[in-house]
Amino acid sequence: MYRLPFPNYYHYGQGLTELDFAERELQRLHDAAHNLVDPNNVAAIIIEVVQGEGGFNVAPQRYIEGLREFCDEYGIMLIFDEVQSGFCRTGKWGAYQHFGVTPDISTWAKSLGSGMPIGAVIGKQQVMDAAVAGTIGGTYPGNPVCCAAAIATLKYMEDIDLNKRATEVGKIVGDRFTKLKEKCSAIGDVRGLGAMQAIEFVENKDPLAPDPTTVSQLTAACLSRGLILLSAGTNKNMIRVLSPLVISNELLNKGLDIFEEELLKITN
Ligand SMILES: Cc1ncc(COP(=O)(O)O)c(C=O)c1O
Repeated sequence: MYRLPFPNYYHYGQGLTELDFAERELQRLHDAAHNLVDPNNVAAIIIEVVQGEGGFNVAPQRYIEGLREFCDEYGIMLIFDEVQSGFCRTGKWGAYQHFGVTPDISTWAKSLGSGMPIGAVIGKQQVMDAAVAGTIGGTYPGNPVCCAAAIATLKYMEDIDLNKRATEVGKIVGDRFTKLKEKCSAIGDVRGLGAMQAIEFVENKDPLAPDPTTVSQLTAACLSRGLILLSAGTNKNMIRVLSPLVISNELLNKGLDIFEEELLKITN
């Protein structure tokens, strides 16, 4: 298994346009085909098009397109991990749908079962049919109770048009975070896709100077007022909004009010 850095434009854009940055990162990928591993021996490339635990970093559009081209050139399976971004989180069934790029395989879980333990692998027919029936096994696959929960969940998501609601939730959060950025110098970046919205704290507006202290103070202050936050990112200097998508606007804004009040108390 070989790892390449995620194309994190905010951290490593260094004054480039997003397009030029994506091309530079793609060059790094092509270089890896010469100095890291023979791409003819690579079975698959896996990526989250929007990183979850990494802090809701959205991959540049051109990078995802270039990844598809690279995989096609060398006969490599392209896998998108939709475990965190799937099922309406970004306002679409899969985050990949924002990019117009189709993976060969994708992985799904979390929201699929409304809390019941279930995950799924989706693939193009020729990929899925390549495994002889009965050869992919495990202790728990096809659990009927979890499958029933997943089918009911999918139907409910469709019935209430959860993608539309996620887009609304994302707009409320994104707009409030963007306004908050103007009032609070500790905020380096506000980003996301649909209802996957994150806020990153840095020192002196420097993308490479993480500020985990503000985040830990904020987490404690919000907890004392009943708002549970979880830090994210390698340096624990980000906060993601992971409210249920069925949350009311009133409750969502109440949470965001607490967040904003406590943040301004800490940083001003
Ligand atoms: C994007 C992503 N992929 C995969 C996983 C892990 O899934 P599992 O618990 O099935 O290993 C997670 C869990 O948080 C995740 O966020």
